[in-house]
This record gives sequence, structure tokens and C-alpha cells, in this order.
Amino acid sequence: MICDMEEKHAAVVVELHCRYLSGLLADLGKNVVKIFYEVVSASEKGFGYVYVENGQVLGFVFATVDHPGLYREVIRRGNVRLLSSVFFALLKNPRLIKEAISHLRNGHRASSPELSYIAVDERERGRGIGEALIERLNEGFRRRDIHYYELSVDGDNEVARKFYEDRSFVLCYEFSECGLLRCRYSLTIGS
Ligand SMILES: CC(C)(COP(=O)(O)OP(=O)(O)OC[C@H]1O[C@@H](n2cnc3c(N)ncnc32)[C@H](O)[C@@H]1OP(=O)(O)O)[C@@H](O)C(=O)NCCC(=O)NCCS
Repeated sequence: MICDMEEKHAAVVVELHCRYLSGLLADLGKNVVKIFYEVVSASEKGFGYVYVENGQVLGFVFATVDHPGLYREVIRRGNVRLLSSVFFALLKNPRLIKEAISHLRNGHRASSPELSYIAVDERERGRGIGEALIERLNEGFRRRDIHYYELSVDGDNEVARKFYEDRSFVLCYEFSECGLLRCRYSLTIGS
């Protein structure tokens, strides 16, 4: 069963995010990731779904319709709690400061809607959960009258790249982010 992502799912989504997704948000640690999902699940600038079976969340997908707006909202609504968690994470791991600055510059990211995060419990992969989440996400975009979105994926994440390519996502360009090769894909959603 696929349900809308709500604040009550934040804790388990955090676990999946930190276990399976790379990137600055995960590197900042579970406190920051939890605040992020608590705020965004109540925002209109983003939306997500969870895949639930026997009461367990086995996977999730999260998308933004207004990327810069969503992050401004996270900073505004996460306020002191978020800023202090980020501050302590950067203090513990100064390497992340460079990554954070590169993200703030955000040169390569168009302001188009995007699939920001998707992950499925590794024990449950290959059963079609990822595909079902993408289908529901596309329905969610259509309902918002959005028919095009993009995503970024690590260049060496061959499983995810094949997963997207098999589902009609098109490689737009490659770029380097903090020394890592990343790929930008897009999908035009049929009506
Ligand atoms: C990408 C991901 C969400 C797909 O989820 P999923 O539930 O396995 O997706 P599906 O079952 O619908 O499809 C999986 C496809 O990968 C293939 N696959 C390749 N290697 C696999 C593996 N080790 N385990 C499971 N499936 C694998 C399956 O055969 C299937 O192929 P198909 O395209 O021919 O149908 C999942 O692999 C994942 O969570 N990866 C880690 C997080 C990640 O990389 N996210 C993307 C970052 S942008």
C-alpha cells in the first residue's frame, strides 16, 4: 500500500535515508534529516509517499515542486533546532563545510521540480516497490499540473541509473559535485 508521507513517518524515513542515500543531508546526520522530513511533510513545496506492508515502511520517495522555496521553508520552520544541529554537525565534520558551500551555490540545479530522494529497504528490492513509488509520484506531479521533472544521481550508482533509464528517464548532462561525478536525468510525464 502506498500512502502520502506524513510527519509520523519521519523517523523511519530518516533510517532509510541515512542507510541508503549519499549526500550532504545524510552526512549532516539523523537529527538534521529528521527535522528536514518533519518540516517538508507539512509543506506544499514538496510531497512524498511511503510504501507500507504489514505496518512496516519499506520504501519512500520524496519530490520538490519548488526546490529553493522548500529549502528556505526548512530553514525558516526548522529554525533554532535545525541551525544548531547543522552547526554541531559541521563542527564535528569540517569537511562538510565545503560541501555545504557547494550546495548553497547550487550552480547546476535548475529550479525545475525534482525527485529528490528515493530508497527501498535493501531486503525488499527487485519486487517492484521502486517502480510503484515512481508511478505514484508521477500521478502526484500530474495532479499538480507538472509534467516534467529532473533528478540527480551519483555517476557510479549503476543500479539506480539503470532503474531510471528502464523507466524512460533521459540523461540530460553530467556534472562534478565536490569531486564526484553526478548525472542529471529528466522525465516528461505522459498524460
Ligand atoms: C533504486 C531503487 C529505489 C529501486 O528500488 P526497487 O524496489 O528495487 O525497484 P524495482 O523493484 O521496481 O526495480 C528494480 C530494478 O533493479 C534491478 N536490480 C539490479 N540489481 C538489483 C539488486 N541488487 N537488487 C534488486 N534489484 C536489482 C531489478 O532487476 C529491477 O530491474 P528492472 O528495471 O528490469 O525492473 C533501490 O535500488 C534503492 O533503494 N537503491 C538505493 C538508494 C538509491 O540509490 N536511490 C537512488 C538515488 S538517486
